[in-house]
Amino acid sequence: MTISLSKVNSGLVKVTVIGLGYLGATHAVAMAELGHEVIGIEPDSSKLESLKAGILPFHEPGLDKALTKVLAENRITFQATHDSSSASADLHFICVGTPQTKDSDAADTSYVVAAAKELAAWIKPTAVVAGKSTVPVGTAATLKAAMDEIAGFDVHLAWNPEFLREGTALEDSLRPDRIVVGTWSQHSVDVLKEVYAPILETGTPLLQLDVPTAELVKVAANAFLATKISFINAMAEVAEVSGADAVSLAKAIGYDERIGNKFLRTGIGFGGGCLPKDIRGFVARAEELGVGSAVEFLKDVDAVNLRRRDKVVELASQELGSLTGKKITMLGISFKPDSDDLRDSPALDISRRLNAMGAKVTVHDPVSLSALATRSPELLREENLNEAVRGADLVILGTEWKQYREIDPQTFGSVVATKTIIDGRNVLDVAAWQSAGWRVIALGRNISNG
Ligand code: UDX
Repeated sequence: MTISLSKVNSGLVKVTVIGLGYLGATHAVAMAELGHEVIGIEPDSSKLESLKAGILPFHEPGLDKALTKVLAENRITFQATHDSSSASADLHFICVGTPQTKDSDAADTSYVVAAAKELAAWIKPTAVVAGKSTVPVGTAATLKAAMDEIAGFDVHLAWNPEFLREGTALEDSLRPDRIVVGTWSQHSVDVLKEVYAPILETGTPLLQLDVPTAELVKVAANAFLATKISFINAMAEVAEVSGADAVSLAKAIGYDERIGNKFLRTGIGFGGGCLPKDIRGFVARAEELGVGSAVEFLKDVDAVNLRRRDKVVELASQELGSLTGKKITMLGISFKPDSDDLRDSPALDISRRLNAMGAKVTVHDPVSLSALATRSPELLREENLNEAVRGADLVILGTEWKQYREIDPQTFGSVVATKTIIDGRNVLDVAAWQSAGWRVIALGRNISNG
């Protein structure tokens, strides 16, 4: 069946993007960049007002400029709830969050369920609903049943997971490796093909799958990436007691194309709003389905990852003895560079623990200090890098921001009390730091400090 779309202009589609967190805001701007007419829907008034004013509520390189541009071109508007204008859209993207539940490892799908039910009361029969949120396998089928009942017709629901990374989110959205669509209706695929046409024209593959597979693609991809990182961090544990060097090991195994050299950076491990909660949610869902043992290993992936944080706390204690009153400077607090996201950040976890053990932890980060003030006000914050390390008994590199890799160890050395640094991300030039008189400690490496 071919259903005609109420096009804005030829090739352009009217879309809504529901939930303007990290994923939704990026996707909304990307859709507007592709030329579509976009209505962003977000009930949180502070996020909404910020986006309306052209200010991103989070740090993401390039997205702020793109937002300003599409606002000026009137290709995007924002509102708190559905109305007759949003109800006339041909395509609705659900982008709300699925955080870890407070009392278990399972993903909290209540926001997705609420968004889908609310939408079902407004949509027209020809509209397509595309879920982009990361959900436990089986969620879409439940959503469809609920939506069909509310709408009173067979809703065109598709699952269309998003693979964007923070720090390169817009680029990842506009130039993805692949587009995945899982659906029960060909009409959904046709509409999504139309909306993604400029991307597909560049040769990006579109994989048309069944719905459970599409749901699984996202969690499986994140589970694989997390496993790769924990694999090399497990090797780091072995290296630390055997005199081997995990950085060289990663490089050596990465030459094998079957292994590849990406996502083998050893250090304090993965954090953020996706990898940690997705592997936990995956285990919880597999257990519900009676196949918990199939992904039991992901519990080890999680444990290896968390042990790297313990290791840094242990190393700091070894270096400083009692931590009471000692000044420790954490360089970088976000879970990765080019982001101000503190969710499950390894650097933040380590800082809080050192602080709880009596150390005076001062944090420097190029963009995350205001987010830190709300989240962990007990930690000291310093915007000036030299002031942050002044008098430090120990410096820890927690996030590999470019500016930290470019520090001159000579100048830096004249400000601290003790020239000891723990390189939590294995990015420093060890020889240069050592020749400037620093003691360099790194995870997974046996560095001789003379
Ligand atoms: C991830 C997925 O990569 C992305 O495809 C998905 O859509 C969302 O989740 P993101 O959370 O933005 O993206 O970050 P990612 O680049 O995957 O890094 C996750 C964490 O792993 C960071 O804390 C990073 O520092 C760490 N990491 C990454 C390592 O410790 N070693 C590596 O080799 C790579």
